[in-house]
Amino acid sequence: MKSPASLLLAAVLAASAVPLLAQQGAAPAAGASAPAPATPGPAAATPAPAAPAAVAAPSTVDVAQGEQRYAAVCAACHGADGNSGTPANPKLAQQHPEYIVKQLQEFKSGKRPSPIMQGFAAQLTEADMKNIAAFLGAKKFKAGFARDKELVALGEKIYRGGIQSRQVAACAGCHSPNGAGIPSQFPRVAGQHADYTASQLVAFRDGVRKNSPQMSQIANRLNDREIRAVSDYIAGLR
Ligand code: HEC
Ligand code: HEC
Repeated sequence: MKSPASLLLAAVLAASAVPLLAQQGAAPAAGASAPAPATPGPAAATPAPAAPAAVAAPSTVDVAQGEQRYAAVCAACHGADGNSGTPANPKLAQQHPEYIVKQLQEFKSGKRPSPIMQGFAAQLTEADMKNIAAFLGAKKFKAGFARDKELVALGEKIYRGGIQSRQVAACAGCHSPNGAGIPSQFPRVAGQHADYTASQLVAFRDGVRKNSPQMSQIANRLNDREIRAVSDYIAGLR
């Protein structure tokens, strides 16, 4: 009595398996003849544009968003157009975006210590940093003036020729003769407030700012008078 039942079951299973196997077996054939359904693929085309868009979105710089963010948080100290009027707060206008992003990342991580900037940088995402940097990079810097007639000649000498006896390389070699820097590698220094520039050279020299071995090595070899002189000269560069 079992055997007819199990035969019937086997028959049922076999019957249901046949169409299944047939479908599976047919699948490759259908796939091969399926360029028809696959190619017209509005369905296949939709994921394609969607994927690049999703990938591109984070790297697309949104200058308007950067401007908004900058105006709300940063402009109070760095000036509406990035030309801060306060000697302790650096001018940021026309600075290379890569340099600005690097500094913001390093303020955030603490690699460049600043009790003031760490908190502001901490609130920025990578995208915010890039957006703000793009906004600032497109602003025009306003030059300043050298103030110390006695020191400015020494400053010019150091900036253009370095100090050979102490193996101080000419600043112009990296920051360019007019102080505009070299995009993405060496920051713009021209027109910067002398107080700020001097404070950074002292910070490099004293090991407080440790985010550039090149600059630490150079600043290590400058005395206070030379720092004041070259900072004053840089303020007048344009
Ligand atoms: C309360 C004033 C203040 C505010 C607000 C402020 N900053 Fe600063 N920022 C400073 C000071 C002071 C420094 C110099 C820090 C140091 O001594 O290293 C600085 C330095 C920087 C630097 C480094 C510049 C360079 O030449 O290396 C960048 C970039 C910067 N700030 C961007 C921003 C951005 C972007 C915001 C807004 C999210 C902002 N700051 C908000 C005061 C401020
Ligand atoms: C070998 C290349 C090189 C030379 C030479 C050089 N610098 Fe720099 N300098 C750099 C780099 C790179 C940075 C960016 C550091 C960073 O990423 O934070 C920098 C940054 C600076 C900064 C900080 C700018 C800011 O906005 O905070 C100042 C100021 C500066 N340099 C002044 C000088 C002076 C003055 C001299 C000459 C005595 C000089 N540099 C020579 C490579 C150089």
